[in-house]
Amino acid sequence: MARITLRQLLDHAAERGYGVPAFNINNMEQALAILEAAAAVDAPVILQASRGARSYAGDLMLARIFDALEAMYPAIPLCIHQDHGNDETTCLSAIQHGFTSVMMDGSLLADAKTPATYDYNLDITARVTRMAHAVGVSVEGELGVLGSLETGEGEKEDGHGFEGKLDHSQLLTDPDQAVDFVTRTEVDALAIAMGTSHGAYKFTRQPDGEILAMSVVEEIHRRLPDIHLVMHGSSSVPQELQDQFNQAGGQMPQTWGVPLAEIERGIKHGVRKVNIDTDCRLAMAAEIRRVAKVSPAEFDPRKFLKPAMESLRDLCRDRFERFGTAGNASKITVLPLAEMARRYRPRIAA
Ligand code: G3H
Ligand code: 13P
Ligand code: ZN
Repeated sequence: MARITLRQLLDHAAERGYGVPAFNINNMEQALAILEAAAAVDAPVILQASRGARSYAGDLMLARIFDALEAMYPAIPLCIHQDHGNDETTCLSAIQHGFTSVMMDGSLLADAKTPATYDYNLDITARVTRMAHAVGVSVEGELGVLGSLETGEGEKEDGHGFEGKLDHSQLLTDPDQAVDFVTRTEVDALAIAMGTSHGAYKFTRQPDGEILAMSVVEEIHRRLPDIHLVMHGSSSVPQELQDQFNQAGGQMPQTWGVPLAEIERGIKHGVRKVNIDTDCRLAMAAEIRRVAKVSPAEFDPRKFLKPAMESLRDLCRDRFERFGTAGNASKITVLPLAEMARRYRPRIAA
């Protein structure tokens, strides 16, 4: 039994001072590459599926992939997480399909575009937390809206994120509000806004404290030392991957992501879950483009996907090592959902 809740995994990470990358997946190839990397370095894994991933692959297919991974890698604790759940239905149907953790992102309304009020966020997150905890499943909430401190805009690349412009008071999580939110919702993990956004185009220059406000992470951790913090939009968009992509015919304008050193700094200040999707996409897409360029006669999808999986595997292995996740899988004894539910019960009854 290797399916672990986010709560148990992040409690372990906090005790030992490491962070866990949460990789987005949409298909078998990504799942296999990530698990291969994890097994090579003895790392526990968080795989997360967005609503887009669930509609791309289908819930049944994703559920079968997770079952297969569990059977193939029984020694790797595997957390299955709903990324950016937009309402109760998304979160509860994820639980029905074997997810051990859900994100209720109440920073936006259910349309995933309109910034929500604080009261809306508090109410929906508390309700989802109560329901999820009743069956032992963990919950990540979000306070503050992800978006660029340079432009005031949300990401447009993947069709979710707010439209228009916001000011810094909405783009930076307020530490006082964070204390109130965590106390009243009882979430297991909190995603905070500090200037990161989804996709490749996060920063127009190497980020400094003006546009990547790591001081917000430090302040919230000082006030809430026991909550597990989550950094979204945390791809590094490495220069070498941008170069590989462009040398193979891609057209990615120069961009900057979140430097690994800043993530490491976050991990020292309570960041336990680090969301990474763009880097994984870029690693695979650069290889697919390279094969298409050097072998224009090739038409066997496996010839494209195998090197793409190897590139993703190497990227994931590096993140497991850099964040200190490596070496911890074998140190965790996974608790079943029923035991997690039992531990939440006194709080639910109160
Ligand atoms: O939340 C952002 C992730 O990169 C997922 O993106 O909605 O295109 O699957 P997606
Ligand atoms: P990136 O786009 O930086 O990889 O962020 C992914 C993410 O936050 C998913 O929730
Ligand atoms: Zn995100």
